[in-house]
Amino acid sequence: MLSDKRIAVVGSGTMGRALVGGLLRSGKVGAGQLRCTARTRGSAEKLGGELGIACGVDNAEAAHGADIVVLCVKPKDVQKVVEGLRAKASLDHAPLLVSIAAGISTGFIEGIAGPGVPVVRAMPNTPCFIGKGMTVVSKGAHATDEHAAMALDIFSTMGKTMELEEKHMDTVTALSASGPAFIYVVLESLADGGVMRGLPRGAAIQLAAQMTLGAAEMVLATGRHPAALKDDVTTPAGCTIAGILALEDGRIRSVLARGVEIAARAAGELGK
Ligand SMILES: NC(=O)c1ccc[n+]([C@@H]2O[C@H](COP(=O)([O-])OP(=O)(O)OC[C@H]3O[C@@H](n4cnc5c(N)ncnc54)[C@H](OP(=O)(O)O)[C@@H]3O)[C@@H](O)[C@H]2O)c1
Repeated sequence: MLSDKRIAVVGSGTMGRALVGGLLRSGKVGAGQLRCTARTRGSAEKLGGELGIACGVDNAEAAHGADIVVLCVKPKDVQKVVEGLRAKASLDHAPLLVSIAAGISTGFIEGIAGPGVPVVRAMPNTPCFIGKGMTVVSKGAHATDEHAAMALDIFSTMGKTMELEEKHMDTVTALSASGPAFIYVVLESLADGGVMRGLPRGAAIQLAAQMTLGAAEMVLATGRHPAALKDDVTTPAGCTIAGILALEDGRIRSVLARGVEIAARAAGELGK
């Protein structure tokens, strides 16, 4: 699906680089099909060298002949960037516009991109860097199933993908895009418990990380409910149930669930 597509990545910071890296590693796209941009010339030149693709500061030039334009700039920069593209007629050929900006709706982008420009909103996360990401995509008003499939094809080079209705996007942002930061806090805290008991810091972090990876893979591989998997570990009168009761005393469930709820509300405010 992507083999004959020219793709412009506008904004090549943390996520733009992950995207370009994933596309190149997948072999679905060759370096000649990709262009990227940054705000500053120095950063563009450095990136071009690192990524081995054409990289500049002229968004309009990059988007001009592109079939797909992926917006990877900060939410506050989306309006200015899209207005700039439209002003220079770089969206007149109605390329697929994919935005990964948190809190910015497809409706908002459609309003500034001009009539008929198909927009797909996507929410990846930082594990995309190592091909273990999770990306959710939602179609805008002018995007077809084929446009959504193209976006899914792009992000499948960096991990798993899913399509959901846009009304869920702020929640997705909190759960799967902010989520890695939540898990790092949990993982670090579990390692601290090991350190408190005398484990070397490096060993404690490795045990906590591999355990987290294995537990997550058990949920995905078995399809069983996390509560049932938890019950498998908790021997009656054993040490695991003792630890779980201590976590419940600290209201771990509502603390984590509220973290997602509050982050989702904050994501909704980013575009206002
Ligand atoms: N980080 C995450 O975990 C994550 C997850 C999901 C979605 N997102 C979304 O991804 C987007 C990018 O986030 P990020 O963390 O990758 O940000 P970032 O590292 O700050 O990168 C932003 C990039 O945009 C470039 N830029 C700024 N203004 C520009 C302009 N007018 N024209 C062209 N390029 C411009 C910057 O160039 P310079 O380097 O020259 O300034 C930089 O390369 C955000 O909208 C965010 O909501 C982030």
